[in-house]
Amino acid sequence: MSKIVTIVGARPQFVKAAVVSRALSQHKAELQEVMVHTGQHYDPNMSQLFFDELAIPAPHHHLGVGGGSHGQNTGRMIEKIEAILVSEKPACLLVYGDTDSTLAGTLAAVKLHIPVAHVEAGLRSFNRRMPEEINRVVVDHVSTILFTTSDVATQNLQREGIQGQSVCQVGDVMFDAAVFYGERARRSSTVLSRLGLDPKAFAMATVHRQENVDDRTKLHAILEGFAQAPCTIVWPLHPRTRKRIAEMGLTLPASVRVVDPVGYLDMARLEAEARFILTDSGGVQKEAFFHKVPCITLREETEWTETLTGGANRLVGSDTATIVEAMQTISPFPEATHPYGSGTAGLHVADLLAARFAGS
Ligand code: UD1
Ligand code: UDP
Repeated sequence: MSKIVTIVGARPQFVKAAVVSRALSQHKAELQEVMVHTGQHYDPNMSQLFFDELAIPAPHHHLGVGGGSHGQNTGRMIEKIEAILVSEKPACLLVYGDTDSTLAGTLAAVKLHIPVAHVEAGLRSFNRRMPEEINRVVVDHVSTILFTTSDVATQNLQREGIQGQSVCQVGDVMFDAAVFYGERARRSSTVLSRLGLDPKAFAMATVHRQENVDDRTKLHAILEGFAQAPCTIVWPLHPRTRKRIAEMGLTLPASVRVVDPVGYLDMARLEAEARFILTDSGGVQKEAFFHKVPCITLREETEWTETLTGGANRLVGSDTATIVEAMQTISPFPEATHPYGSGTAGLHVADLLAARFAGS
């Protein structure tokens, strides 16, 4: 039986792996998935909650690496993943997105001549000060199979000389997740009543990007913008941001309702029922688009350029006045486009992996 080792570690990867693991289980007679959790995210509501809620198979290996700097995390992960790959001898390594866990898994595998399959390949912000951009570029250039989300991602790879059979445009597994779990969230999430929120009477925010939260001036400017919101902002606070706000002695404005990070189903419900969304997350920008909710992105650039079409998503950086102006001039969601596939990306990934690696 051929094995595929999957590397996950951070919150968005649990969502993506939930989709692909479910699809891979249809090939379990020929392919065994071995799940490795690096430990990059470790609080129960940043990790275990997702495994429980999205029925992700329990990790076969948990590395317990998290909470360090980029170099510490990546180095420790590489060492531990290498040992697992030597003993598991997989036919392929499967990685998601652009985190330090993605990079570590990839570097460990390629040096052992294990082919790497990268889900969410080809995304570019063209900002090399972002740690994630470095991770993406390196991973894409050493991967054997590159699963892209859209034309834009495929073209980005082409421009860098990566093309041909190694590039498979399958659509976005996060769109699959929004379709599959979105319906479940509508039926089962009680988050609106628990928080006493009326649909479309609140905004939703998430902020965790290094460039925003490690810079006091920027984080302060964002909070000043939030203070002038036309409605309550519900803000599930990432632990990194909670720590920075405390360390920097910043005060949360009265307009903000901070809650602990929520599970995927509650998040989907909050996103779908928000009047608008403020975020610097990659995944949340797309989910706003999937749920047809206007998005204000607290960054200067985005990898997800399709979401900018017709003003569905606006880039405002961290400038207070620009944030306020964007909140005051929210326009209805424009005519929908569907650049991210048809909700079957996970099935395509699993089928292609099985065709290539089963029996090898
Ligand atoms: C990481 C990813 C980022 C992704 C984000 C998703 C990298 C370089 N960055 O950023 O691409 O968008 O995850 O959320 O891989 N912490 C906790 N508990 C946790 C997790 C984190 O307290 O469960 C705190 C720790 O102080 C940790 C800090 O947050 O040091 C940063 O965590 P880390 O995983 O390094 O980066 P993120 O900002 O979460
Ligand atoms: N998410 C969640 N609860 C939260 C915040 C985010 O379930 O409190 C989900 C969100 O819906 C999306 C994923 O986590 O599916 C995005 O992760 P994050 O914003 O941490 O990372 P990014 O996408 O920026 O890498």
